[in-house]
Amino acid sequence: MAQLHGDAQGSAPALRVTSLSKTFPGTRALDDVSLEVQPGHIHALLGGNGSGKSTLIKVLAGVYHGDPGGEITVGTASAHSDKTSPQWARQAGLHFVHQNPGVFPTMTVAENMAIGRGFETTGIGSIKWRALKRRTAELLERFQIQATPDMPVGLLRPADRTMVAIARALQDQEGGHDGVLVLDEPTASLPASEVDVLLTALRRYAAAGQTIIFVTHRLDEVIAISDRVSVLRDGRHVATIDTEGKNEMDLVELIVGRALDRVFPEMPPVESEEAALEVRGLVAGPLRGVDFTLRKGEVLGIAGLLGSGRTELLKALFGAYPLAAGQVLLDGQPVRFKGVEQAMDAGIAYIPEDRAAEAAFLDMSLRENVSASQVRHYWRGLRHRHGAEGVDARRSITDYMVKAHSDQQPFGTLSGGNQQKVVLARWLRRRPKLLLLDEPTQGVDVNARAEIYGAVRRAVEEGTSVIVVTSDFEELSRVADRVIVLAHGRVVAQVAAPHIEPHRLTELAFASAGDTTRKVAAS
Ligand SMILES: Nc1ncnc2c1ncn2[C@@H]1O[C@H](COP(=O)(O)OP(=O)(O)OP(=O)(O)O)[C@@H](O)[C@H]1O
Ligand SMILES: [Mg+2]
Repeated sequence: MAQLHGDAQGSAPALRVTSLSKTFPGTRALDDVSLEVQPGHIHALLGGNGSGKSTLIKVLAGVYHGDPGGEITVGTASAHSDKTSPQWARQAGLHFVHQNPGVFPTMTVAENMAIGRGFETTGIGSIKWRALKRRTAELLERFQIQATPDMPVGLLRPADRTMVAIARALQDQEGGHDGVLVLDEPTASLPASEVDVLLTALRRYAAAGQTIIFVTHRLDEVIAISDRVSVLRDGRHVATIDTEGKNEMDLVELIVGRALDRVFPEMPPVESEEAALEVRGLVAGPLRGVDFTLRKGEVLGIAGLLGSGRTELLKALFGAYPLAAGQVLLDGQPVRFKGVEQAMDAGIAYIPEDRAAEAAFLDMSLRENVSASQVRHYWRGLRHRHGAEGVDARRSITDYMVKAHSDQQPFGTLSGGNQQKVVLARWLRRRPKLLLLDEPTQGVDVNARAEIYGAVRRAVEEGTSVIVVTSDFEELSRVADRVIVLAHGRVVAQVAAPHIEPHRLTELAFASAGDTTRKVAAS
């Protein structure tokens, strides 16, 4: 299967994909894709949700077999596209961090590292724990991960979990850089500050000769660190270009196939002085006394680092997190939700950050996932009082441009970004009084981002008030009327449009955060 070509030319590509297709029942995910990646390059792989990026990566990894007829070459090792296997990929020097990095939360960091290459054993078969821990400690140091080898990975922040997955994928790479590191949306769940840490590390590796393929929807990152860009559209390879001299709009045009007038629709000005929501002295979990007022039709942004209590704040307002003290007034009336059912009945909608895990049913169809009654299933203890809501899944598919071959497609086989859109669609259709959004555009493509904020805008015009949490401060600066900065469970700063600058928000969030966080950011 794997053969040597003996091509020693310096200009030989690190990776060559020739005529690769992949057909799923009902979907041609990849259609005759051919592309090359040069050694030592950071090569971005771009494309809309469902365009085939993850599928391409999974074929490279041998997780899926391609259709017959194509070829994959890594350095000097070649394989037919229908014959790749995880062993082949590994021998050829391909290293992967997938869209949902498979780190095991209950195992320690050291054990997770060991899974990457099997446990090293002594002559008599026992695991070399000391060597493993020492090596893990070195990796943690090298990748600047705030953890010790003995910590269970589940206790790490999501950002550090991703870093562990990357460190694990690259651990055998020391010295030689013949292989290719492939990262599928490594930055999607990282806040801006940690994205910088990761990008800096990637640049360092590329400078040392490491070839990197990297999938992302954040185009500023592409411009900042990639040498070349390949774009997929509907499973076809539409272009490979040098990044130099290109701007984000050039990339958008390649991805979408036409220019987008704007990614962020202009939100209508807030006219009402009336309060939709008043929060006074709210104490819950990490929140230690939060005060703010949200006006009718206002889009209020919440900036804060991971651990600042931003997610807990949304959950507390939704009745999904117990309040220890404080008062919440909805339309001037004090409310104290015993659970999420009451919050929903009062007109509150909440879209959690980890949508696939917290708000979807991977085994059920797209149609079932879109129907509002499933929300009630998910939030346990709920009765079907709104069962007659008659939600039209097909309309959601068109409205939000969910790429699926039918509304019966199992949710788990939708592409990452399309899964997000389904969950968003389900809630936005309900036209809630108060909409709570946690990282609404994580993993969605630029076109869908415009659609989502278009839908938020329509909801706002109809009187919905919105609270949005996102680590994308650029996004906050475009959509929010006002931003409050959370740190240590309190509101530490407030900025109103037109003075909401992404840099300013980063400064405020960091200046207020404690020393531990600053240490991560500074490294
Ligand atoms: N196991 C599967 N069964 C059926 N269809 C699938 C399967 N996996 C992927 N697909 C389909 O293949 C197409 C490409 O999906 P893929 O996950 O490669 O997209 P992507 O470019 O990674 O998108 P995203 O940016 O949303 O992650 C989609 O239409 C998806 O529904
Ligand atoms: Mg994907």
